[in-house]
Parts: sequence; structure tokens; C-alpha cells
Amino acid sequence: MTLPALLSRPAPKPGISDIAPYVPGKSGAKGKRVFKLSSNESPLGASPKAMEAYRAAASSLALYPDGAASDLREAIAARYGLNAQRIVCGAGSDELLQLLAHAYLRPGDEAVYTQHGFLVYPIAIKANGATAVVAPERDHKAEVDAILACVSERTRIVFLANPNNPTGTYVPFDEIKRLHAGLKPGCLLVLDAAYAEYVRRNDYEAGIELVSQFENVVMTRTFSKIHGLAALRLGWAYCPEHVADTLNRIRGPFNVSAPALAAGVGAITDRDFVEQAIRHNEQWVDWLTRELTALGLKVTPSVGNFLLVHFPMAATRNAPAADAFLSERGIVLRRMEGYGLPSALRLTVGDEEANRAVVAALAEFMR
Ligand SMILES: Cc1ncc(COP(=O)(O)O)c(C=O)c1O
Repeated sequence: MTLPALLSRPAPKPGISDIAPYVPGKSGAKGKRVFKLSSNESPLGASPKAMEAYRAAASSLALYPDGAASDLREAIAARYGLNAQRIVCGAGSDELLQLLAHAYLRPGDEAVYTQHGFLVYPIAIKANGATAVVAPERDHKAEVDAILACVSERTRIVFLANPNNPTGTYVPFDEIKRLHAGLKPGCLLVLDAAYAEYVRRNDYEAGIELVSQFENVVMTRTFSKIHGLAALRLGWAYCPEHVADTLNRIRGPFNVSAPALAAGVGAITDRDFVEQAIRHNEQWVDWLTRELTALGLKVTPSVGNFLLVHFPMAATRNAPAADAFLSERGIVLRRMEGYGLPSALRLTVGDEEANRAVVAALAEFMR
């Protein structure tokens, strides 16, 4: 930009105008009932305990929330056997990812994420003037060696979604340990475990063990997925003490609302509800994978609550055509161009009616 242009109006910091704004999943489409399967939300909604706590919070709306989120941190700590001092709550895990980038990235620094990694990472990296370095994936899976090959003297953060959105793939714990072992102590490894609760694999660990042992690992979690509280914006991070201290210095003093804190306690203590959501997901991820594969579509095996479905490149049976066909029938999936996957759509596991509707519609589309 020229000097006169710079002086004529306020200009954002370098890097910000390079950011491609995050595009959320569409919510509307023509049709009687709209099946919104575009944002990895829970088809089971929120736990009755969470909703009751949320309603009860309505009587205190004039009061600021507890800025320390003490009850929620205690409830999370009790649930997972953690040290509550090392938990930081945020307005969604998005806020925590942004705060981590804000706290640890300077202009000239680098941060690494993977080829089809969650798109909030490049936004957070660039917003702080740092350079986003993209590690290639193989078969839509993050690879430790490829990530380590991208790490330089300037790397301050490695962001890894495990499981990853939108691919649904995961990195086993042994490999995560190898990744951590390859990083210098001054480089932060951020394990974004937004979908951890859905994973049914013996070789998976969300990150708690590494955070407990090392000074440079953070795990982020969300209430938006299995707990069904996406509307409230609630997440948490498990951190080394010095990182929790840093985040607590820069976060807004009341960054999580009182209704969200109350609902979070209700949700985390409702173990039966979470179990029900896990069982539902397990059943329908398997069913959807089988049915879609039988239609001739390629489905990346997923440990999350969504599937990456690959369409042929053919002129009439491609992903944009499938998206248009489904939208006409009130079924909304997520387009994947922004993730560099133009021939795929991402499908969130819905309730039985939605799952059957999407398979029936895709059967018609593929005929
Ligand atoms: C991998 C990953 N991380 C973080 C988030 C953000 O979740 P939250 O709603 O807690 O901000 C999402 C949401 O889609 C996600 O897919």
C-alpha cells in the first residue's frame, strides 16, 4: 500500500489482509426439514442437565460471570483427574487457539500445521504476523516426519488437530510422542483434541499425558461437539502452569459467559449422556461408511463424528453437483474447497432420519 493510502485510513497489522476469512457451514436449504450436516454438531443436542443449568442461569443475568471459571475447571479436573490450576476456559476452543497464537507468535516466527488441518490455525498464525508453514499429509493423514521436516529454528508452535477435521484421521500416541521428541523445548506443541471423546482406538491419547510431563505441550478441548453446546461457545485447554499463567494474563477477564459455565458443569458431569452420544456415533459412522462405500464413493476412515466423502471427478457426478443435488433436498453438507479438497464433501453424522435421508439422496445422485 502507498504511503498516502496508509495515512488516509487505519490499516490492520501486516498479515491480516492475507487471511482468508473462515467460512462456517451453511445452515439453510430448500425443503421441508433441513438436515444440517455441515458443522460437526451433535445430533443428540445437549444434555438435559446442561439445559437445566443454562435455564437456571437466567435468574442471574445481571451479574458478571466468575472470571476464574472455578466451578467448571473443578468439574473438568474431577472428570479427567487433572490439576484445575492448569485448566484455562475459553469462548470455544477457537478462542484458546487464538490466544495461544497471540501469546507465542511474533512477526518473523513460523508455525506449522498440516495440509488439510483445521483452518483456524492459519488465521491465528497470520493474524499475529507469523508465517504459516504447511506440512504435507499422506492419504489425508498427518505424518510426523513431514511435520518435523517443516520445523525450523523459527518455529514457535506446531498445531495438530488429533483427530483432524475435516479428514477424520488421527495420529497414534506413539507417533505424537515421536513428534514431541523432535521439537525443541522452546517450541509449543498444540494438540487440538476437539473430537477426542469420539475416538475408540487403543493407540490414541488426547494429550493429557504429555501435558502432564512437559513444559511445551498444550491440549485443547471443546464443549461444542460431543457435549452439544456449540451455541454457547465453550472450550478448555490443559496447559503447563506457565502457559496457563500466560493465557490468564491476556484473555478477557470474563471471557466465558455465566450460562456457558453453568451448562458446562451440567454437561461434563452427565457421563450417561456422553456415553449415549458415543454409542450413537459409533453405530452411524460405521453404517454411513458402509452404505456410502457400497454406492461407489470413497470414504476416508474416520474416528470423529463426520466423514470425508470423495466424489468422482466426472462432469456430472462431482462434489459440487452432489452438494447442489443434496441442497435441493434439504440436506446440507460442507464443501471442502477451502481445505484443498474440491472433490470431497464433509458429512456430519446426524440422527437416524438425517443419515438415512443422505444415503437415499446420494443413492439417487449416483444412479
Ligand atoms: C479441529 C477443531 N478444533 C477446534 C474447533 C473449534 O471448536 P469450538 O467450537 O470449541 O471453538 C473445531 C470446530 O469445528 C474443530 O473442528
